[in-house]
Amino acid sequence: MSTDKNFKSSTRLVHAGRRSSEYHGVVNPPVLHASTILFENLDALEKASPFPHGNSFYGRHGTPTRYLLEEAIAELEGGHATLCLSSGVAAITNAILAFVKPGDHVLITDSTYFPTRNLANTFLKKFGVDVEYYDPTLGADIAGLIRDNTTIIWCESPGSLTFEMQDIPAIAKAAHAKNAKVLLDNTWASPTLCRPFEMGVDVSVQAGTKYIVGHSDVMMGTITTATQEDFVTCKKQVILSGDSIGPDDCYLAQRGLRTLNVRMRQHHESGLAIAKWLQTRPEVSRVLHPGLPDDPGHAIWKRDFIGASGLFSFVLHPITRAQLANMVDHMDLFGMGFSWGGFESLLLPSDPKKIRTATTWDDPGQLVRIHVGLEDTDDLIADLAAGFERLKTA
Ligand SMILES: Cc1ncc(COP(=O)(O)O)c(C=O)c1O
Repeated sequence: MSTDKNFKSSTRLVHAGRRSSEYHGVVNPPVLHASTILFENLDALEKASPFPHGNSFYGRHGTPTRYLLEEAIAELEGGHATLCLSSGVAAITNAILAFVKPGDHVLITDSTYFPTRNLANTFLKKFGVDVEYYDPTLGADIAGLIRDNTTIIWCESPGSLTFEMQDIPAIAKAAHAKNAKVLLDNTWASPTLCRPFEMGVDVSVQAGTKYIVGHSDVMMGTITTATQEDFVTCKKQVILSGDSIGPDDCYLAQRGLRTLNVRMRQHHESGLAIAKWLQTRPEVSRVLHPGLPDDPGHAIWKRDFIGASGLFSFVLHPITRAQLANMVDHMDLFGMGFSWGGFESLLLPSDPKKIRTATTWDDPGQLVRIHVGLEDTDDLIADLAAGFERLKTA
């Protein structure tokens, strides 16, 4: 797609990473499978390299099916270039390992996705990295925690389970003053709801598994960097790890991408409608959704985002396990599972108390994470209302 024109994001979403004239006018990029890539002669073999990115070299490094998806995601996130990996966790792990070495100090938001914390507490600590968690609401005050050996500040906004918004521009300003990099898990926003690089982020990571794929059937992660230098650093790390994603999964991801804007608009609208309905329910003590005007992160969300996804949490007044089971075990429409970002609605009872260390979560109520899918909101509300009725009968 011509990048010299100032197309709107929904137009870019349809055209990015598609070069039909290069493959017989077919609308979607072809699926090119490869382990072996053949070289025409000894000269070509001797010159072969996975750099620059996009060279045909060896199947593990990708084929044009992956490169075109990467081109589209980089354009949509507003970054320099993207790497696609086999899962969101593979993207998180490789992005972090690309920038840390023994003796470094890293700052990680206390609201981060649990496997990121797991990586930090096991692998990073084992290799002599000093891991410190910080309050996600710190903003510019994070400056007080940055040391001479702080190499990365890991952010996730809004945070997993509890949905605190982070002041990313303020964190980036403080980080860059001390030469630390800002890495962001940007999965909640998908590539459509915020512009991470305009906020000063150096590396944006997505679990493409969620909204990019959008159909709950592919695992994928992405690393997008602001600069070529950081891209090369990340690519070298990904090569070391041996991570790879096959062309069929890339094909499904690029197919999902084309409808991302309309799906996200619906997730936004339905999610907010259900969040507002939940606020009216006597069973619910609070709703954690930055799009709600009374949410503590609302001003930051309004400043930095153009919409909300369908993922947020609500807290039920204290209930027994039997009551919870009676509610969630008999839902007609809401499934229970660890992922999100697909077309279907989900509930996930969770307990942030066990996870936090820099902050405390002392709400006595039961937290339930909800993913509002693309079903009719009246039907979803009826399903939740029936579930709340069952709280009384356990
Ligand atoms: C915020 C966030 N980041 C990353 C991931 C990891 O993605 P994946 O499941 O593709 O490894 C998840 C998965 O639930 C997530 O919720």
